[in-house]
Amino acid sequence: MKVLGGEKAECLGRAIVTALLLREEATVIAAVRDPDHETAKSLQGLPKRQTAHLIVVKIDAASHTDHASAVKQLQDQCGIKSIDVVIANAGIIKTTPLVRESTIEGLLEHYHVNAISTVMLYQATRPLLLEAHNPRFIVTSGSGGSIAQQDKIQFPLAEYGPSRAAVNWLFRKVHFEEERIAAVLVDPGLIDTETGGSAVTQFGMHRSNLQSVEQSAENYLKVVDSASKENTSGKFISAQSQTELEW
Ligand SMILES: NC(=O)c1ccc[n+]([C@@H]2O[C@H](COP(=O)([O-])OP(=O)(O)OC[C@H]3O[C@@H](n4cnc5c(N)ncnc54)[C@H](OP(=O)(O)O)[C@@H]3O)[C@@H](O)[C@H]2O)c1
Repeated sequence: MKVLGGEKAECLGRAIVTALLLREEATVIAAVRDPDHETAKSLQGLPKRQTAHLIVVKIDAASHTDHASAVKQLQDQCGIKSIDVVIANAGIIKTTPLVRESTIEGLLEHYHVNAISTVMLYQATRPLLLEAHNPRFIVTSGSGGSIAQQDKIQFPLAEYGPSRAAVNWLFRKVHFEEERIAAVLVDPGLIDTETGGSAVTQFGMHRSNLQSVEQSAENYLKVVDSASKENTSGKFISAQSQTELEW
């Protein structure tokens, strides 16, 4: 299983890695921007089953080469021959402008990290996914990218929102293009992390809307565990309610 974005001390990616290492015979690959960073190094100190393994690789989502290099390293140096699940979880929401205030730089940066990088991860890991029995490519998205729910979610998200709408389009398309690989888009809901905390403050919501990272990881992994080509592939799923969302 591969989780992109597992580095920060309090983030969804790390909580997912933490939960997976407690599973028997799990080989967990955490992709981080800087493997030499203290928080990345501390991943090796997480409690784990004796039969579980953690491999840390470097992927900066904004890089043009890291995705392919990381997969080559996994094949050549770690003997990885297949991957059951890829979780594309790294993401940014750096700015919250109205459309009339958005900038080329902001639009491109969000599009690059939240959408293009996910395609690069998919292309790089696809040969290894095809070796798995029930291959799943799971993408962390967000309701902020929903077009159908814009009347309910009226926050200024002009640079983040379209990047999520794009990744939703791309991976629903992957569902139709791939005979065996399940592609699922997941809205994790509001999480008590840097991203979720600042959204709540900025948009004047109550902190009780935030779920703990541990609860979010548990909900998220329920979606991952039950995903298959036959049920949730090609769908946009709320991890919090375990129901299908409108695009
Ligand atoms: N928190 C929420 O309420 C919420 C709501 C909806 C969707 N989401 C999405 O859920 C995912 C996880 O959210 P979170 O709350 O855990 O966010 P977070 O605390 O901001 O963490 C984001 C993660 O993405 C990684 N990342 C960002 N840019 C990257 C890059 N260029 N290359 C590699 N990794 C990069 C970060 O790595 P570093 O540690 O190196 O910064 C971090 O691990 C994100 O995709 C987020 O957009 C979150």
